[in-house]
Formats: sequence, structure tokens, C-alpha cells
Amino acid sequence: MTADQLLSPVEIFGLRLANRLVMAPMTRSRAPAPDCVPTALMAEYYAQRAGAGLILSEGTVVSPQGRGYAHTPGIYSPEQITGWRRVTEAVHAQGGHIFAQLWHCGRVANAANHEDGSPVAGPSALAAQSKVYVPDQDTGGIRGAACDTPHAMSFEEVRAVVEQFAQAARNAKDAGFDGVEVHGANGYLFDQFRCPLVNDRQDAYGGTLENRYRPLLETLAAVTAVLGPERVGVRISPFGQGNDMRPDSEPQVTYPYFAAACQRLGLAFIHVYDQSATWIHEPGNALLAALRASYSGKLILCGGFDAAKAETAVASGASDLVAFGKLFIANPDLPRRLARGAELSAWDVHSFYKGGAQGYTDYPAL
Ligand SMILES: Cc1cc2nc3c(=O)[nH]c(=O)nc-3n(C[C@H](O)[C@H](O)[C@H](O)COP(=O)(O)O)c2cc1C
Repeated sequence: MTADQLLSPVEIFGLRLANRLVMAPMTRSRAPAPDCVPTALMAEYYAQRAGAGLILSEGTVVSPQGRGYAHTPGIYSPEQITGWRRVTEAVHAQGGHIFAQLWHCGRVANAANHEDGSPVAGPSALAAQSKVYVPDQDTGGIRGAACDTPHAMSFEEVRAVVEQFAQAARNAKDAGFDGVEVHGANGYLFDQFRCPLVNDRQDAYGGTLENRYRPLLETLAAVTAVLGPERVGVRISPFGQGNDMRPDSEPQVTYPYFAAACQRLGLAFIHVYDQSATWIHEPGNALLAALRASYSGKLILCGGFDAAKAETAVASGASDLVAFGKLFIANPDLPRRLARGAELSAWDVHSFYKGGAQGYTDYPAL
């Protein structure tokens, strides 16, 4: 099967993208703590992958308190903005486009990664039974550590997070990003607020569906006020159980409700990640149909796609763009390889978060 539609150029988000392949956001832990400034090596890594129609950056945190994992970049200090500018210029020089994924980990964090000494905070004082990486002082590498029990954010703290995302959007623009994706997926802060089993608040940010989505929707409104809705998207992970999340009891109510709110905001895209890499590939999947019915913006689908599945998703109208993760780690020139039907390289999990060039910038192009 050829991947003609996947590989043909498309006008989207006011940009002309070379193809419908998106490089999925992937944390690579190469921004050294404590400053967590994007490096020249990161610019090289992203430039190598600029053949993607659109790159979504690895999660970049909006504040020290938003950092869950060691050596993950931020977008709040002047040095970080300068570092990211080097990345965006390198991608643009290759004819690519790049959006920043803006991230707050909430309770999926260990305070050892907060360079300002701030404690871990989340919707409620309920610890995630999950691990994060912290710097290992003995080896200079990283080691697994339990998540701290968070304190429940005050109403004012939630409002401050909304403003941090708005500032991060200004910083992303300043750094030359073409737009942003707000990270609403994978058990991080906004997903924690959404989930009634993780959020037991009694205030305007807990209880009803409307209240539980309020932090994310206030954030999206603030970010679109900065960048315009055409350059703002959001990532969600329906049914995802990673990072100690519980399945939503009413997915056909919850996610369409959210999609309708995105419609009102005029958001550019919803990026749907299926952690199980199953239902996202079903023709006529009920949840995807419900999202389409509530939202007329673009859909990006992600989770276990190969060229054939991606072409089917695009050709059937299920997806506008398709995000590839691990294949982009191992195949910097993935679109060209798919166009030629060339063999694909395998990824090495051991170097995902290892630091350095090995398993990062040394995967060869064809
Ligand atoms: C090393 C690695 C790091 C990741 N980091 C992030 C991240 O920072 N933000 C995010 O939303 N998803 C992250 N993900 C999930 C990917 O974006 C993607 O959804 C996942 O790899 C499934 O796509 P695939 O089957 O094409 O690899 C990460 C995945 C991997 C493998």
C-alpha cells in the first residue's frame, strides 16, 4: 500500500506542511539540571527530524514546580527561551515546523526536580503510585524515585498555573515556535484534574465535569488569547491508565464535552493518544466519531501507527494528521523512508532518557 495521502503536502494551521506526519512529543531528558536549558545537541536532534510535516517538541515545563522528571527542558527562564530559539531556527532552516508541548506534571513529580525547592502539588493530596526520574548524584545519571505526596493546590495556585501557561505561550512565540500544544494527557496535571478519582476537591475546580475541566479550559482560553486559536492545540489520552490514572467511567460524555468546549474556543487541533494502540485504529470507532461530531477542528491521532495504518486513518477521514513517536526516534528521515518504502531502523529503549548523543543524534538517515 502506498502512503500517498499521508505523504502529500497540506495547508493546515495557516502553514504549508510537507506531509501529514507529525513527530509525537517525546521527552528525551537532554536538558541538564538544574537550569534545564535546551542545548545545541537538542537543536541538532530536532533539525534531523525536520522532514516531519510538524514536530511537537518534548514536554517543556512552564515552571520549576511543573517539572516531574530530571533534565527536562523548561520554557520560563530567558536562557531556556534562547536555547529553544536555537532549536526552532535549526528546524526552520530545514524547512520544518515545530510547536512546543507545554507541560505541568502536577503530582507525577519528585521535589528533587524542582530547582526552586517548591513542593509537589496537584489537585488533591493523593500520591501517584508511579515513578519519575531524579538525578543520581553518585553516577551523574538518573535513577527512579517515587512520586511525592502532593499538597492540594489552593484556588490561587491553580490561577497561577493558568498564568504560567499564558506566559509560556508568550515565551514560545518569543523562541520562534510556530504554535503550542497544551499537554492535557497521560496523567499529568490537567488529566489529574479531569479524573474524579484523583481530584476530590470541593471548590470550582472539582466535582462536576465542568469544574474538573475548568483548569484546562481556562488555560486554553489564556493561551489562545496570546497566540490565536489557529496555533493552539491540546493533547488528550482517553482510557489511558499510565501514571496511575483510572479509566473514565463515562468516556462518551467526558471527551465529547471537552471537544465541544474546544470547538467554542476555535482550537486548531485535538491530539488523541491511545496508550493501548488498539481502539484508535478501529474504523468507525465510537469515541472518535463522537469527537468529530462535537468538534470541527483538526484531529491528530497517535499510538502504534505504521505507514499503512496512518494512510488508512487519513484516507478514511478519521484523522487529519498522524503522529509517530518511537519510529521518529530511530528514523530521523522517516517521511523519506516511507516514501521510498525503505527499511526502518529499530529504536533502543535504553537510551531514551540516557543523556548524550548516543541513541539520540546518532541514528543514521538513509
Ligand atoms: C521516549 C518517549 C518519551 C515520551 N514523552 C512524551 C512527552 O513528553 N509528552 C507526551 O505527550 N507524550 C510522550 N510520549 C508518548 C509519545 O508522544 C507517543 O504518544 C507514544 O510514543 C506512542 O506513539 P508510537 O506508538 O508511535 O511510539 C513519549 C514516548 C516515548 C517513547
